[in-house]
Amino acid sequence: MVQRVAVIGAGISGLTSIKSCLDEGLEPTCFESSHDIGGLWRFKEEPEPGRANIYFSVILNSSKERMAFSDFPPPAELPNNMHHSEVLQYLRLYAQAFNLLQHIYFQTTVTAVSKGPDPAVEGQWVVETEGRDGQRQTHVFDAVMVCTGHFTKPHLPLQDFPGIETFEGRYFHTWEYCNAEGLQRKRVVVIGVGGSGGDIAVDISRVAEKVYLSSRSGAWVVSRVGQGGIPVDMLGNSRMDMMLQKFFPSWSVRTAEKKLNDVFDHRLYGLKPDHSIFAQNAVVSDELPGRIISGRVQVKPNVKEICGSSVIFVDGSIIDKVDVVVFATGYNYSFPFLPPALQSKSGYRLRLYKHVFPPGLTRPTLAVVGFVHGLGSLTPLAEMQARWATRVFKGLTSLPSEKNMMEEIEKDTELMHQRFVLSERNPIQVDYIPYLDSLADLVGVRPNLPWLFLKDPRLALQVFMGPCTAYQYRLTGPGQWAGARQAILTQWERVLQPFRTRRERERERESRQRKPGFYAFVGNLESATPPSQQTIYSTIAPYGANSLEQTKQTVPGKQLVRAIT
Ligand SMILES: Cc1cc2nc3c(=O)[nH]c(=O)nc-3n(C[C@H](O)[C@H](O)[C@H](O)COP(=O)(O)OP(=O)(O)OC[C@H]3O[C@@H](n4cnc5c(N)ncnc54)[C@H](O)[C@@H]3O)c2cc1C
Ligand SMILES: NC(=O)c1ccc[n+]([C@@H]2O[C@H](COP(=O)([O-])OP(=O)(O)OC[C@H]3O[C@@H](n4cnc5c(N)ncnc54)[C@H](OP(=O)(O)O)[C@@H]3O)[C@@H](O)[C@H]2O)c1
Repeated sequence: MVQRVAVIGAGISGLTSIKSCLDEGLEPTCFESSHDIGGLWRFKEEPEPGRANIYFSVILNSSKERMAFSDFPPPAELPNNMHHSEVLQYLRLYAQAFNLLQHIYFQTTVTAVSKGPDPAVEGQWVVETEGRDGQRQTHVFDAVMVCTGHFTKPHLPLQDFPGIETFEGRYFHTWEYCNAEGLQRKRVVVIGVGGSGGDIAVDISRVAEKVYLSSRSGAWVVSRVGQGGIPVDMLGNSRMDMMLQKFFPSWSVRTAEKKLNDVFDHRLYGLKPDHSIFAQNAVVSDELPGRIISGRVQVKPNVKEICGSSVIFVDGSIIDKVDVVVFATGYNYSFPFLPPALQSKSGYRLRLYKHVFPPGLTRPTLAVVGFVHGLGSLTPLAEMQARWATRVFKGLTSLPSEKNMMEEIEKDTELMHQRFVLSERNPIQVDYIPYLDSLADLVGVRPNLPWLFLKDPRLALQVFMGPCTAYQYRLTGPGQWAGARQAILTQWERVLQPFRTRRERERERESRQRKPGFYAFVGNLESATPPSQQTIYSTIAPYGANSLEQTKQTVPGKQLVRAIT
């Protein structure tokens, strides 16, 4: 029977895995190679080899409600798209609220995971660790959760850039980038337009003489600021939107692309990709179009070769006197401590059943958590994977036969390749809500919409038409949380709260005009749908309550929420 679980890594995936173990009555022991929690979201002045790294200006692509854990709504006062320091703050609150820290051994690196010592006890694992002072230890666990992230190994494709050895300036990968210090008045070429390339080109363009942004395939660019100023990922991400996309795929693509081209014409700005908007994660940038229109960033095609201090592009254009080349060329994944047998591939992805379990194990006691991409935040995906994995460990849910898992993996890979643009560096893309729902079915926590419409229409409306936030998966079933309903009904309030910084006069006017009965009704309907600028005000008014107070009531460990306010 599984009891002792090793969790490797204390980032988002590791923290939620520790919590899932505790929820299922398992005993987690987490090994974290650094001295702190947070993983990628722990900013480091200097990059640390083998770990993900972020630059100082990084703010979350996902809004706080979309990145929240399912039973831990973020404090209302936090901004919607948090700075990395605030993400870490939120993770600290989560870890403290659920007493996760006491299960973590810091500065302890897992160097190897291999099958258990006693063949009579199937499914056990030997975990080898190296401590701060180099001391090695061997531990035996009943199960292992691999939560080590996958943006750790920079992809530096120098072989694709003939002449790079003649380059007279400096080049580096975005993994090494902290801020634009030292790049004042330089001529900089940034290669690659993913999230990193988009952000860093903007960052550097504030101080550089000029930034040239080279894109091989183009990219769709989405602002965090959606219609009416609402976080873009709180709009168009409901179960209803998912249904529309499923039944009217071409219309959905046309509509979404038109919206983006209404902000700026991607062809005019030289960024139009060949793939459709839903085929790959878009680049999230509020500022890139502004930097392009002001000429601070100039978009260029792929680089053909480099010669001395000149960069030659595939269209024949040449930029001379280049001081710095930044490779924003993404990451390769790597799990150096896992046996090669567990790292076989299907397409570009690891051969994992539902991106979690290797299919060939005699007992399913090793799970990978957080190695998945979808059009939305990783947090709910990793959390659901962890909830499912721990129930499989306990034997409360079983997996299909190895043959069936293999078949499903291959079918899944084929479908993924048909639908999405994948590569070594972007090996996985799942349909966000369907993937969450498929795991939620296995855990027994998928919301039953028809039943909900009969029992609680107000909530059902939110669950169907509102953004698909993770609280939906705490309404029923194992791990049900009494605060989930309230968390859903107050999610728009927590979105609106950080904007309420200069509204005294309007509030006075509203309170004079307010007719409580009518507004309460309108508020209930509107809270399920994205509020327009006018409805923002009418939605706040009827709730009337101080949203922080409500957060405190719904959040476990309320004293901790108070601690940061
Ligand atoms: C620049 C950037 C911005 C991003 N923005 C968003 C966003 O807006 N929204 C979103 O949802 N996702 C975003 N992501 C994706 C991001 O990967 C996830 O948000 C999340 O941080 C991943 O968490 P994780 O726990 O899986 O991995 P990590 O955060 O990488 O944590 C892994 C942990 O494991 C530890 N570790 C590694 N190897 C070992 C070992 N052998 N032994 C012990 N410990 C080990 C590491 O020290 C680390 O603490 C972004 C990614 C990048 C690169
Ligand atoms: N603010 C944020 O929240 C934020 C910020 C940064 C990153 N992120 C996330 O972090 C992850 C990593 O992002 P990333 O931008 O570092 O990597 P990425 O998304 O993989 O983008 C890599 C880019 O490099 C290009 N590229 C790769 N190899 C190339 C080659 N040989 N020649 C020319 N171009 C090449 C790719 O072009 P092709 O498309 O042609 O392959 C792509 O444009 C993503 O999940 C991203 O969403 C988030």
